Amino acid sequence: MSSVLGVVATAIWLMLPAYIPNNAAVLAGGGRPIDGGRTWGDRRVLGDGKTWRGTAVGIAAGAALAVGLNLIVDPVGTALGVDLPTFPTAAVLALPTGALLGDILASFLKRRTGRERGAAFPGVDQLDFVVVSLVLAAVAAPGWFFEQFTLAVLVVILLLTPALHLGTNWIAFQLGLKNEPW
Ligand code: CTP
Ligand code: MG
Repeated sequence: MSSVLGVVATAIWLMLPAYIPNNAAVLAGGGRPIDGGRTWGDRRVLGDGKTWRGTAVGIAAGAALAVGLNLIVDPVGTALGVDLPTFPTAAVLALPTGALLGDILASFLKRRTGRERGAAFPGVDQLDFVVVSLVLAAVAAPGWFFEQFTLAVLVVILLLTPALHLGTNWIAFQLGLKNEPW
């Protein structure tokens, strides 16, 4: 696990269930907003970009992916020559839930700071989901978390995530799935 490939592969593997929910929410979004249209002061609490359907489908997609990864961990690990981890049930749920919770918290902060729906919030947009996902996983499955998320793995995650996030959102924008390229 000390090789660079091992650390990078482990970091991506561990975060896949946190990466997918936001993209699934973009595809599934729509319907009733979580804040029910309510405002705080003269601004929406969260806005129309955070919906029940997007959140539910996003969590389900991330959890399903984690279960799927558990099923293929041995062949993939063997092919890469890396000792990849499995996801305990608490992490299966915590990683995707934390990802969307982070995204929702970011929208809350965006509205409070006067940013309209879809406005960019550099830094927060790229890391909100990963930070809350990590915190929730650490709380839900601490033994597993501190065994798998070594300092090296965490550094790779924090460096790689903004690049992956910007890349996938740019693709979703080009495909017409998203209104903004961030
Ligand atoms: N989405 C959703 N539910 C979520 C997260 C996202 O339905 N919990 C869907 C919405 O259709 C949203 C799209 O995914 O418009 C893009 O997500 P995001 O960029 O996070 O939302 P924005 O519309 O940009 O709104 P905000 O400024 O609040 O981030
Ligand atoms: Mg946005």
